[in-house]
Amino acid sequence: MRKIGYYRKSGELFLQNISLKKLADDYGTPTFIYDSKLIENSFYLLKNIMDPFNGKIHFAVKSNDNLGIIKYMNNLGAGADVVSIGELKRCLKVSVKPQDIIFSGVGKRKDEIEFAINQNIKQLNAESIEEIKDIIEISKDIKKKVNVALRVNLDINAKTHKKISTGDENSKFGIIYDEIVNAYKLLNEASFVNPYGLAVHVGSQLFDYEVFFQTFSKIKNLAFELKNLGFKVNHLDLGGGFGVDYAAENALNYKSFSKALNEVFKKKEFQISVEPGRSLIAESGVLLTKVIRTKSTNIKNFLIVDAAMNNLIRPTLYNAIHSIKPLKLKSDRSIRKYDVVGPICETGDFLGIDFNLQETKKNEVLAIMTCGAYGSVMRSNYNSRPSAAEVFIFDNKELLLRQREEIDQLLELDIIPNF
Ligand SMILES: Cc1ncc(COP(=O)(O)O)c(C=O)c1O
Repeated sequence: MRKIGYYRKSGELFLQNISLKKLADDYGTPTFIYDSKLIENSFYLLKNIMDPFNGKIHFAVKSNDNLGIIKYMNNLGAGADVVSIGELKRCLKVSVKPQDIIFSGVGKRKDEIEFAINQNIKQLNAESIEEIKDIIEISKDIKKKVNVALRVNLDINAKTHKKISTGDENSKFGIIYDEIVNAYKLLNEASFVNPYGLAVHVGSQLFDYEVFFQTFSKIKNLAFELKNLGFKVNHLDLGGGFGVDYAAENALNYKSFSKALNEVFKKKEFQISVEPGRSLIAESGVLLTKVIRTKSTNIKNFLIVDAAMNNLIRPTLYNAIHSIKPLKLKSDRSIRKYDVVGPICETGDFLGIDFNLQETKKNEVLAIMTCGAYGSVMRSNYNSRPSAAEVFIFDNKELLLRQREEIDQLLELDIIPNF
């Protein structure tokens, strides 16, 4: 039996000392469950790699913006990486110190930049010459100093899914190599800007050592080029993107990252930070969903469940494969091949295709694994479906982190015209 995480006792799925069946009964379905211990485990794995570099971990809030999760990450010692004023306000609401917050993102509006500068956040990662000019103008207008790093596009093939690849010149992210010296010069000349360093993030779901090695080598060389020109380049933000193996039980692996980091930065010439999301939170989460109906055609067996693409969009958006488990293993059930699908009126509304599962009946509950990152946070209300509840298991106790949305709440923002 694993010491931490989801495990079976007499065939039944448990987390800490709580049965998932009990959680489904108490909170209803669909509901996301998170395990504090798996979060802690992934955080400390990474912290042990970063500590020799005195490196700081900033949790990428985009991967899970629940206030309770941000607060828990911060209690562990993580700062935050945000990409909007909304995410920034979430962090401030749970008392993340502004000095621990990095603001990334390719399309920061002027009001977002001004708010961030006024909050004295740690660093803005600028992604274009236009953005730099906006930052310079705003900081001068409000007469407040701001640390600015440049997010570089190093034209690296991240060898990952097209939709989560951000580091090559086809992507909208970062400032291209040819423009970096000019961009840094602009920072250097501005009276209210402190040139802080460089940032890079080449994509998500990175496993390949060569990708990390190339990225780190290129950013280090570029930092030295700038230093040789007389610029101050103290901080390197190496991004996130550490891969999670969704098919495996033990999903986490920082090996390639750690090897490349130790090789490229062994002399410790820079202040290093990282901004991972997925690797810190993915494995901790499951989505509990109940079978509403079963149905078979000549070629398919369907389990139509009460979660859908509005709760978990990863399968249809990225062809992601999440393992799916019955809450109770029953020895008298045969194995069948199922498509696990939601009730939304789209063929793309599926959670798993061609899954071998024990024969499953109406009203039984399934656990969709590794849903902590880019799960609930990517929810929508498509088909007027309320969002799921979220529950945190901490010290063998259940804490509700997000209430199930009510249909009435969905109707509140629309205005009925007086036709
Ligand atoms: C700039 C930036 N930093 C960090 C992340 C976090 O990536 P991951 O959740 O894969 O670690 C992202 C994800 O898109 C990103 O765009």
